[in-house]
Amino acid sequence: MLRDKYCGEINESDLGLNLNVAGWSNKWRDHGGVIFIDLRDRSGIVQVVFNPEINAEIHALAHKVRNEYVIQVAGEVRRRPEGTVNPSIPTGQIEIIAKELKILNDCKPLPFMVEDETDASEFLRYKHRYLDLRRPAIQRNIIIRHKAAKSVREYLDSQGFLEIETPVLTKSTPEGARDYLVPSRTNPGHFFALPQSPQIFKQILMVSGLERYYQIVRCFRDEDLRADRQPEFTQVDLEMSFINREDVISLIEGMIRKVFKDTIGIELQTPFQKLTYHEAMDRFGCDKPDLRFSLELKNVSDIVKGSSFKVFLDTLSKGGLVKGISAKGLAGYSRKELDDLTREAQGYGAKGLAWIKIKNGFESPIAKFFPEQALKALAERFEAEEGDLLLFVADGEKAANDCLSRLRSEMGKRLGLIKDGVYAFAWITDFPLFEWNEEEKRYEAMHHPFTSPREDDIEKFLSVPLSELQTPNSELSKLRAQAYDIVLNGYEIGGGSIRIYKKEIQDRMFQLLNISPEEANEKFGFLLEAFEYGAPPHGGIALGLDRLVMILAGAQSIRDVIAFPKTQKAICPLSNAPSTVDSKQLKELGIKLDIVE
Ligand code: AMO
Ligand code: AMP
Repeated sequence: MLRDKYCGEINESDLGLNLNVAGWSNKWRDHGGVIFIDLRDRSGIVQVVFNPEINAEIHALAHKVRNEYVIQVAGEVRRRPEGTVNPSIPTGQIEIIAKELKILNDCKPLPFMVEDETDASEFLRYKHRYLDLRRPAIQRNIIIRHKAAKSVREYLDSQGFLEIETPVLTKSTPEGARDYLVPSRTNPGHFFALPQSPQIFKQILMVSGLERYYQIVRCFRDEDLRADRQPEFTQVDLEMSFINREDVISLIEGMIRKVFKDTIGIELQTPFQKLTYHEAMDRFGCDKPDLRFSLELKNVSDIVKGSSFKVFLDTLSKGGLVKGISAKGLAGYSRKELDDLTREAQGYGAKGLAWIKIKNGFESPIAKFFPEQALKALAERFEAEEGDLLLFVADGEKAANDCLSRLRSEMGKRLGLIKDGVYAFAWITDFPLFEWNEEEKRYEAMHHPFTSPREDDIEKFLSVPLSELQTPNSELSKLRAQAYDIVLNGYEIGGGSIRIYKKEIQDRMFQLLNISPEEANEKFGFLLEAFEYGAPPHGGIALGLDRLVMILAGAQSIRDVIAFPKTQKAICPLSNAPSTVDSKQLKELGIKLDIVE
């Protein structure tokens, strides 16, 4: 070993010892002839002192060291002289008086400094990700990720789960995103799809009688990227037989408790709260509410119906609604601030934003359209007081909810309601089974087509007339699924369901999704056939590991917890993927390119 101890672990118990240390030169300073190098390895930093009076030769060599040179030092651990102690680092009490120095490698001038605060562009950071990954903040994230994965494995092993790998070269899975395709050389014109999830295989493992499966698995989805979405991401994926929803929920609560304890030392309270999908939409306008603060949406359609404000009345007469939120203490907002807020709401898709200040009575351009009693009723609905600002959006239910939930998040931030170190979990249950796709004028499975309807909705599920398939808001949209999501601080960190395990129900599901038996057979025939050979009742869930670790690490993007992430444009600046391939490779695959712009 080139070292006796890691830099960050040297402490006062090592005083007087001669130690070998090795790492990168983090910082180099010349103080009146004495050279100080902050030596860094994965564990932290230790200060090394090169004094010409102690050893002129290595002092001269230390002069050649630059940032990020790789060096090995032997020297004596000494208490730092009074006045030079640095209480902000764990090794701040001691330093190493160098007696030997080896420059193991040099380093070109850096494209950006290796420090936690960096203003380097994302592209540059990812192009030199090996330097970016040297930043202690990112290393900490990678270590938390390792601990989380280890904790998950320990927990699931203790619960009798088997870790089983499923194919990466496979067929399209129905998670609703675009597939990444891989051409087959041995079968020209045929393609594998990279899995959007192991959904079908894990269900087949249940038919196989393996009872409890899990996998920490890469999934691939070609979709528009955001801070919490990558084209390849990692799921903690699991499936169990002979269980119900409560079994999955309590298993996951136990797992998350252990992960929080093992990674960041936090004891969580379980059970987590449960909200039905409808309750979440009604109170927060979205199915992944940030429950670190309340600021609930209120439907005020019943009150504003008694006003003469045309915008509201028109919306109500078209079947829409009027909902709002109350921003505590913001009645002092100026006209300009309110105009800016209106523009922001319009950015979220609102047609407009109506406001009422509770300030010496009611102050608002629309107050004149309301009888005094209605204004009072509005204030009461929000339990608003003097100094508060009421904000309203009139629109169709979906649009109003969407805009107000985003406005709610924004106001939560502005009002300082989001505290660090708070972890607000919830289960969202009873999702609709189907969701209307306005573009394609048809129903889709809200989760995926293997999700079971709720027991008490099965009769309706079997009897809905097929004429309902063509219209939005039909009986079909009222059916509820045995699906559940887990949300944390406004992120969907996981989702799953109890599955259909009987062929008749699965066939009916495809019928309601307007998928012909031929198409179903072509796409998922192998699962449907397996169901005919004694499939047990089963269900499961997948957690987004990247999102969970992002929150554990307090990072702003999942890219900060992935060693080699892709940019917003789904490219890897480090390896330059994706790239063109040579014509020989294409020929072998039987592919001729005809790029359409
Ligand atoms: P679902 O599609 O909800 O369910 O995915 C499960 C969880 O994976 C995470 N996730 C993502 N994370 C980062 N980037 C992405 N592009 C991305 N897409 C999804 C989310 C999400 O909650 N097979 C089902 C699970 C099941 O039914 O058991 C599935 O994949 O945190
Ligand atoms: P107008 O009569 O269009 O000038 O609108 C009067 C006020 O109502 C303005 O403050 C608008 O921002 C607001 N407003 C207009 N449309 C809506 C809407 N759909 N929801 C809420 N407020 C609206």
